[in-house]
Amino acid sequence: MPASEPQPALASTGLSQGSWSELARRWSQVSSPLRPCPEDLQRLQAVWRQSLATPLPSRRLEVLVLGVTQELAAFPWAGEFSLTCTDANEEMIRAVWSGDGPSRRVLRANWLKLPLADASFDLVLSDCGVNVLGNLGQLTSLGREVMRLVRREGRVVMRRYAHPSPAESLHTLIRAIETRTVSSFSEFKLRLLLTLSAEHAAIRVGDAWACFQAHFPDRQNLATQLGCSLDTVNSIDAYQNQDTRYLFPSQFELEQAFAGFTFTRGPAGSYPLAGCCPVFALRACLRSDECRGIRPVDEA
Ligand SMILES: C[S@@+](CC[C@H](N)C(=O)[O-])C[C@H]1O[C@@H](n2cnc3c(N)ncnc32)[C@H](O)[C@@H]1O
Repeated sequence: MPASEPQPALASTGLSQGSWSELARRWSQVSSPLRPCPEDLQRLQAVWRQSLATPLPSRRLEVLVLGVTQELAAFPWAGEFSLTCTDANEEMIRAVWSGDGPSRRVLRANWLKLPLADASFDLVLSDCGVNVLGNLGQLTSLGREVMRLVRREGRVVMRRYAHPSPAESLHTLIRAIETRTVSSFSEFKLRLLLTLSAEHAAIRVGDAWACFQAHFPDRQNLATQLGCSLDTVNSIDAYQNQDTRYLFPSQFELEQAFAGFTFTRGPAGSYPLAGCCPVFALRACLRSDECRGIRPVDEA
């Protein structure tokens, strides 16, 4: 099915419009930590390899990406591999997908109901897809769907956004801007979303925009303090009136949603806000007593 042809499963989700379409038009203004940097790619590869119990098979690997994240699609995950990238939003696909080829294709589909065969992937990748589903029920559905898709010896490898501990207040964030210790507008935007989302609730981006408007009326001044262009600050308008929700599940919530998998935590990053961007690998439990949650990398 061509990428532009919506599937029936997409019709009722609203995923094909909204803030992702607005963001697609401004994607070049999005940077780390809202996009994976080279260090993230190295961390994702490291936790994948460390989570493997056996060497990679010598055949061509099947890799699935949840999203059309350019950095994930361009990375050499293995010597020989086929890539399938999936995203619900046509405009995002059009804006960032570099084109189908003999061993790479894009599929416009809902991650919760992918038209792909059972046990057909060696590696399932996602850059913060777990944060954009909006509620824990959908996260659980994603857990079931990736369990269906990944091969027995396959792995699911993800980066996610997580609340800092202790949590940051809006007041502290404003102070950080005044003291020029926020490195980019993307870092600011993620810190704002994290600050506004209560421990167990998702944040609607339209509400984040309203808060931004109230607290940062002088956009030019903010751009100067962050050392970015006014155009970059104006990219916040992709959130205006939008219902898209960011969810920041706790480790416990994540383990519940991905019940049936065992976790391997990946190496920490060193870029600004890397502490809020952990990476992890999942493998299907072979025995029921294995699924006791996270394992540190050095025990993998
Ligand atoms: C990969 S995520 C996260 C990108 C970035 N790291 C950030 O935080 O803004 C963004 C993409 O997820 C897609 N998306 C969200 N929920 C989806 C779903 N249920 N099925 C398919 N695509 C979905 C959106 O269309 C969007 O293009």
